[in-house]
Amino acid sequence: MRLLLVPLLLAGLSATSVAAHESVRSRKSLGFGPVHPHAVFRSNPSDIPQSFGVSQSGNPLHLVQSFANGLIPPHLDGASTFVLRKDSYTDKNTGVTHAYLRQFINGLEVADGDLNVNIKDGVILSYGNSAYQGPAPDINLVRTSAHPHADYCSQLANELDVRNDHYKRQLNGEQTIIEELAFYRDTILRPLEYMLESSCAFTDLPDKFLPKDHKLEDPRHALLQFMIAATPEDHMVQDILSRYDDYINRMSSYMDNKFVGGETHIPIELIHNVPEAVNPVKARLAYIQVPDGNSAHLDLVWKFEVEMKDNWYEAAVSAHSPHKIISVVDWASDAYAPIPGKGEGLATYNVFKWGINDPSEGNRTIETEYNDKLASPLGWHSLPIANDPYSANKRFAHGSSIRNTTVTWGNNVFAHENWDGLNGYLSNYRPDGGRSLKFDYVYDPQPTTGGDALEEARKYINATITQLFYTSNMVHDLYYRYGFDEPSGNFQQHNFGRGGEENDGVIANAQDGSGYNNANFMTPPDGQNGRCRMYIWNTANPYRDGDLEAGIVIHELSHGLSTRLTGGPANSGCLGWGESGGMGEGWGDFLATTIRSTSDYSDYSMGSWAANREGGIRNYVYSTNITINPSTYKTLDKPGYWGVHAIGEVWAETLWVVSQKLIKKHGFSDTLFPPLVEEDGTIPTGEFYRPREYELNGTPKPLVPKHGNTLITQLVLNGMKLQPCRPSFFEARDAIIQADQVLTGGENYCTLWGGFSERGLGPDARVEGRTPWGGGIRTNDHDLPKACQ
Ligand SMILES: *[C@@H]1O[C@H](CO)[C@@H](O)[C@H](O)[C@H]1NC(C)=O
Ligand SMILES: *[C@@H]1O[C@H](CO)[C@@H](O)[C@H](O)[C@H]1NC(C)=O
Ligand SMILES: *[C@@H]1O[C@H](CO)[C@@H](O)[C@H](O)[C@H]1NC(C)=O
Ligand SMILES: *[C@@H]1O[C@H](CO)[C@@H](O)[C@H](O)[C@H]1NC(C)=O
Repeated sequence: MRLLLVPLLLAGLSATSVAAHESVRSRKSLGFGPVHPHAVFRSNPSDIPQSFGVSQSGNPLHLVQSFANGLIPPHLDGASTFVLRKDSYTDKNTGVTHAYLRQFINGLEVADGDLNVNIKDGVILSYGNSAYQGPAPDINLVRTSAHPHADYCSQLANELDVRNDHYKRQLNGEQTIIEELAFYRDTILRPLEYMLESSCAFTDLPDKFLPKDHKLEDPRHALLQFMIAATPEDHMVQDILSRYDDYINRMSSYMDNKFVGGETHIPIELIHNVPEAVNPVKARLAYIQVPDGNSAHLDLVWKFEVEMKDNWYEAAVSAHSPHKIISVVDWASDAYAPIPGKGEGLATYNVFKWGINDPSEGNRTIETEYNDKLASPLGWHSLPIANDPYSANKRFAHGSSIRNTTVTWGNNVFAHENWDGLNGYLSNYRPDGGRSLKFDYVYDPQPTTGGDALEEARKYINATITQLFYTSNMVHDLYYRYGFDEPSGNFQQHNFGRGGEENDGVIANAQDGSGYNNANFMTPPDGQNGRCRMYIWNTANPYRDGDLEAGIVIHELSHGLSTRLTGGPANSGCLGWGESGGMGEGWGDFLATTIRSTSDYSDYSMGSWAANREGGIRNYVYSTNITINPSTYKTLDKPGYWGVHAIGEVWAETLWVVSQKLIKKHGFSDTLFPPLVEEDGTIPTGEFYRPREYELNGTPKPLVPKHGNTLITQLVLNGMKLQPCRPSFFEARDAIIQADQVLTGGENYCTLWGGFSERGLGPDARVEGRTPWGGGIRTNDHDLPKACQ
């Protein structure tokens, strides 16, 4: 349901950069939503009821359904149901079934009523539940103004005051981190200011914008109100405000007869002619939970999916009070035409080899297509015509007809230049490796004088697209082998009949013209293409190309990984803001750092080559030394740590500390790639996995990576599958600990806790007072659970 566009880097960096070609645009992005005080993640066996009247040997999904029904409080009997989502799946390696359910009340979806249940061998291992538990709402909804406009605006104004204070204190603080401050300003203050200016400048709302005959069934007012808040251009806002009725009347809608995800019969409305949207907006009515002390009440909302040039939003706007945006997730995260042909054999690429983070670390070499028959059965340059967006005559194609290309275009990734910065990609330029698939191009940037630095960078576009294609395919194949496969929502045009939704390879834009000094990734739900945009950095002369810094590319692609694995492949809204959104950033940094690390321990920075800055683009380098990187859980309370990148840095640092403890215990593997599969499909254990073990009944136990760095990679991915939608640090931690329980029987229980508690996330760590806009007061715990003392 969501599309996530995630910026990798910090928006404010350009302020300190050398002569910019043109001013740097920082992407506007909204992200907030209700906190759920009643949401739980239970992974402790004593907290999980196990007998619910169904045979344990039955279909795990029947068991899950019966378990879920047991969680419905008696007063909601008949009103509340849990519908099993069809993106539920069983992990091939661990055998854990990850079931995702959505709550419905009176037949209407509760947009944030998420239940995820993890089950193995008839036993519920854990579950996360944010379902609504309050009194059943009146079935006959009447038009009430539950949230008068004035109240809403004064709430917003209060929020803004608090955040402004916070911001000013940071400005005057001793340890001012310019980029993080700028990011805070752009992602938290500005959107709040914007919403106040646009929606609250008119005291006569909703009467002015909401005619007396406003019908709940009419989504247009709520949508236009949202567009006012989401539109990046001020003049557009002014135009909408001055010709509001014209805009409303111009919008038209029709019902889309397809059913939502096949799970329920709720029709989607498609709204056309929406200003600033690049495609018709999907809309449907739903409930959402709004906190009310320690519980929550239900509001009726319009749920929109809005694709804009730089954003892809999933938003919930009150149906009764269309000025009130209750939650919004941007599927985009920031960092801060193929020529038909026929290739032969494996492709070769002149690239910075996997493991070389950026051009300061080594020279390019000729590398061969990886050829993992499990992860990429067709290689990197082939795909079925039926799944090829470029093949106009798909209807003539048979399932089996495969197209081999000689360009950077295949089943996992489409890579190309995107100098114009627009959304089209089919006819963008791609290098052609010819029949022999040799992608060997010059990379020799020279310093320039005057305004031709960008031109200089464009001279090596062949090399840079080749690099982006290579790195992105390597990431696909690597993550695949750790379980980011078709059923769990990976990015592929064709899924080889292995489950999951198809036609969602990664669209990878090299030298994207829509910005500088950043990168971003959009993650829509499974079945829609992910989009990665890499930018040039004008931080040095010659300019530096983000496509050539593997850490940045890996960070971006990891947004796709964490978003699809958390809360299930069809739900892209689980890592939208706050601690969840922060971890979305943190996993990318952690995985990029783990990928570049070697057996000789070293501290690492993020983005330091592209940003031309020793120490990189985060506040601290990743280090086990607490003097060098002092981040702990409590750091999140500090000024400057309310934005997702800073939060992510604390999470990545914590995982780094945890990973080093596992490496100390289990050693280090020089490659993260598991052995290639044999002809008959078996996975050799080699030196990589522990010898295969079997249950008494002969069932194979999960393969366990032998070394510390491979094991933590596996635990982190498995944890993502176990954790609930909108996880907190505690829940993500508990999920990793449970992942170890499932994989090894819990032999690293105390080692993992040792790492987490070193950075304050011991069992008694606490947080109070989190808000949709960040903040809260945290208490570190540096102790271990009793069992480890
Ligand atoms: C790349 O190769 C050149 C020439 O052999 C060498 O001088 C330079 O140090 C190398 N660069 C890196 C980063 O290894
Ligand atoms: C594509 O390449 C594969 C493997 O190299 C080959 O078996 C197949 O015949 C090729 N298909 C076409 C249409 O050229
Ligand atoms: C890219 O490579 C092609 C050959 O494949 C060449 O014709 C073209 O000039 C190159 N582009 C640039 C900008 O060097
Ligand atoms: C941690 O870093 C500080 C500052 O660089 C240094 O003085 C100290 O020796 C380091 N500690 C360890 C255990 O390496």
